[in-house]
Amino acid sequence: MANSFRAKLTAAALLLSFAGSVFLYATARSFAAPGGGLAVPTPTPETFDQAAAVANLRESIKGRENEPAGKVFKNVKNLAEMPAGRLLAVMQFGYSRSLGVDCTHCHTPDEWSSDSRPQKQIARDMHVMAGRINNELLKGMQSLGGRQAIVNCTTCHRGQVKPATNLPGN
Ligand code: HEC
Ligand code: HEC
Repeated sequence: MANSFRAKLTAAALLLSFAGSVFLYATARSFAAPGGGLAVPTPTPETFDQAAAVANLRESIKGRENEPAGKVFKNVKNLAEMPAGRLLAVMQFGYSRSLGVDCTHCHTPDEWSSDSRPQKQIARDMHVMAGRINNELLKGMQSLGGRQAIVNCTTCHRGQVKPATNLPGN
C-alpha cells in the first residue's frame, strides 16, 4: 500500500519535472532570436537535419561539383560563375554559420530554388552590398597601402542574424 503510494508520488514528480523542462525549453526558444530579425518565423528547425540536407545535395550533384553553379542549379543569380560544389560550402559556412542560423532561415527545405522566403532575397542584396564595399570602397584604399582588404558576411554578422551596433554591456 505504502509502496504503491510512493510509486504514484514518484510518477507525479517525474511528470511535473518533465512538464517543467518543456516549459523552460519553450520559454528559452521564444527568446532565442536576439534583435528580432524579420517577422517570418524559421520553420521547424528541430526536425531539420542540416548535415543530411547538405549530404543529399552533394550526392545529387556528384560529378558536377566543378561546373558553374548557374548550370547545375536552377535559380542562381549572383553566384552563377562559382563551381556548384563551392556554392554548397558557401551556403553552409559563409551564410548559415556567419549568421548563426541553418538553411531554413532562407530556404524551405527541398525547395532550394524557390524564392518564397524573403531572407533569401535579402541575402542576395547583402552579397551585392558586400561586393560594392569591397570593389568600390576598399579596393586600392591608399591609406591602407593600396592592398585589397575585404569584408564578408562574417565581418558584420559574427554568428548573429542582426549585426550588433554596440558591444555587450554598452
Ligand atoms: C556591412 C555589414 C554587413 C555585411 C557585410 C553583411 N550584412 Fe547582412 N545585415 C547587415 C545589417 C545591418 C542587417 C539588418 C539588420 C536589421 O534588421 O536591422 C543585415 C541583415 C541581413 C539579413 C536579414 C536577417 C533577418 O532575417 O532579419 C540577412 C539574411 C543577411 N543580412 C544576410 C547576409 C549575408 C548572406 C551576407 C554576406 C553575403 C551579409 N548579410 C553581409 C549588415 C551586413
Ligand atoms: C542567409 C540566407 C541563406 C542561407 C542560410 C542558406 N542559403 Fe542557400 N541560397 C541563398 C541564396 C541567396 C541563394 C541564391 C544565390 C544566388 O542567386 O546567387 C541560395 C541558393 C541555394 C541553392 C541553389 C538552388 C537552386 O536550384 O537555384 C542551394 C542548393 C542552396 N542554396 C542550399 C542551401 C543549403 C543546403 C543551406 C544550408 C546549409 C543554405 N542554402 C543556406 C541563401 C541562403
